[in-house]
Amino acid sequence: MCMRFWCIFYWPQLTTPPCRFLLDNPGVCLGKRVLDVGSGCGASAIAAKLCGAAHVVANDIDTVAAVATHMNCELNGLEPPICVMDNMIGSESGGFDLILLGDMFYDEALATSLHSWLNRCIETHGADVLIGDPGRAQFEGHDIRRLLRQLAEYELPESVREENYGLTCSSVWRYHPEL
Ligand SMILES: C[S@@+](CC[C@H](N)C(=O)[O-])C[C@H]1O[C@@H](n2cnc3c(N)ncnc32)[C@H](O)[C@@H]1O
Repeated sequence: MCMRFWCIFYWPQLTTPPCRFLLDNPGVCLGKRVLDVGSGCGASAIAAKLCGAAHVVANDIDTVAAVATHMNCELNGLEPPICVMDNMIGSESGGFDLILLGDMFYDEALATSLHSWLNRCIETHGADVLIGDPGRAQFEGHDIRRLLRQLAEYELPESVREENYGLTCSSVWRYHPEL
């Protein structure tokens, strides 16, 4: 998978694990309706498309994210996903089978609104939720953290550890509590 527009939106090695996980486990996306929230450069949405998802929506409130996603799709020879720039957090989720969140728990207020919205998506549509996080303090300390099941862990290279203030690995988690 080629990614060019990563200077702003693609955090190398922090973003890679969710994509790596999808590419290594294509059955997770196959035939599914997938929503990538906070999609940035579109890395996870593109991985979902490459893995045979039936329908992919990349959602990011930053308009530049949609431009980067289109460019990265072109680079990968793919039709771009539908790019939605509205804030979908808190809204009706629209019946997605799988919701992806890569490095979205970097702010406590955002994490809390995501948590209650994800509960609603699971309750109303039975959505499956995968979260990628490099072990940020806001994520590790949040209530949602103890409700997650770790699916994969990837070590960060030395250079990335140095640049990211003590982060040592990045993980992919599944959130599917009994509600
Ligand atoms: C740390 S970046 C992660 C980007 C991408 N998921 C990745 O792993 O590379 C967070 C992204 O979330 C987006 N974002 C922040 N609040 C959002 C919201 N309410 N809805 C959608 N996207 C949001 C930002 O614009 C940014 O692109």
